[in-house]
Amino acid sequence: MKTPTAQQIAAIRRARGTGLAILVHHYQRDEVVRHADILGDSLELSRQVPGLTARDIVFCGVHFMAETAAMLAGPGQRVHLPTPDAACVMANMAPGPLVEAVLDRLAAAGRDVLPLAYVNSSAAVKAACGRRGGTICTSANAATMLKWALDQGRGVLFLPDKMLGQNTCRRLGVAADSMHILDVREGGRRLDLEAARRAEVLFWPGQCVIHSRFKPGDIEAVRRENPETKVVVHPECSPETVALADAAGSTSFIIKYVAEAPPGADIVIGTELHLVARLASQYQGLKTIRPLRESACTNMAKGTEETLLAALTALDTAVPVTVPDDVREPARAAVQRMLDVSARGGR
Ligand code: 13P
Ligand code: SF4
Repeated sequence: MKTPTAQQIAAIRRARGTGLAILVHHYQRDEVVRHADILGDSLELSRQVPGLTARDIVFCGVHFMAETAAMLAGPGQRVHLPTPDAACVMANMAPGPLVEAVLDRLAAAGRDVLPLAYVNSSAAVKAACGRRGGTICTSANAATMLKWALDQGRGVLFLPDKMLGQNTCRRLGVAADSMHILDVREGGRRLDLEAARRAEVLFWPGQCVIHSRFKPGDIEAVRRENPETKVVVHPECSPETVALADAAGSTSFIIKYVAEAPPGADIVIGTELHLVARLASQYQGLKTIRPLRESACTNMAKGTEETLLAALTALDTAVPVTVPDDVREPARAAVQRMLDVSARGGR
């Protein structure tokens, strides 16, 4: 049974037709997911934007996602974020001016690294990457992009997620003594420049508070209960947690992992709760799906049917998400480099 809010959303979608596209990230609530024109992980959603012809693009996710869409949107297109105060806590751990200061300080000390930013970062950080020949990645193509970055021969600063960075380095076989986590306190004055010169990959000390809650002990408890249970986690979890899991990958990877598991499979998932709960109800009676721990992203959860309806009602009057020109161009160059490299790399 459709709620009155759902009926109003459906009526606006019908009236707007191809002039409106609703993009939704997998972590959104079911009540929002059901209105998606396109549902996806960060990589799939950014890839779709350049091909959209709709004048109004409504992005149900967090701020950096809508900002990335605004960078990729064409002239005359408008990107709307129904929850303007939905921030990614991890993206906020790398403020643009601090990233610039740290990169400049490293360069002045003879360590001119190539910056590789996780898509969970502000436009200012993406612009800092674009201006220095760097690029961005998502959790789905981090290995392809880090390999590309390493091949440029300048050493790499991976930011802001030290967990995804370390997990990807392990996947690529980067030696533990070639990695160094920066101390960015006091505007970068605490950097250990000697250690930064010795390491091939430097990490920004950021992490996702939602994924940091999953601990190796949680997986050990699952294994004690039933050694046959499969554990799949997002690579924003700690390297110790990822090492114990049966598999790790982006939100789309996790969805595919569950879809491809045989009937009767028992799967425990270490990622954001709304996605895990959706999979649990989708496969109810066929496969057992449980969260490794109940950990929800409160910013993603700000998106509701009501906030979506409010955004749709105000499409012609709302101020769309914008990125200033001096940031947009270098940031777009960094994003475009990722789209080009990852298309060649198969993901
Ligand atoms: P994906 O890129 O896997 O969709 O994840 C985005 C995110 O915010 C994970 O916390
Ligand atoms: Fe950011 Fe973590 Fe929320 Fe993803 S789950 S949007 S990384 S705070």
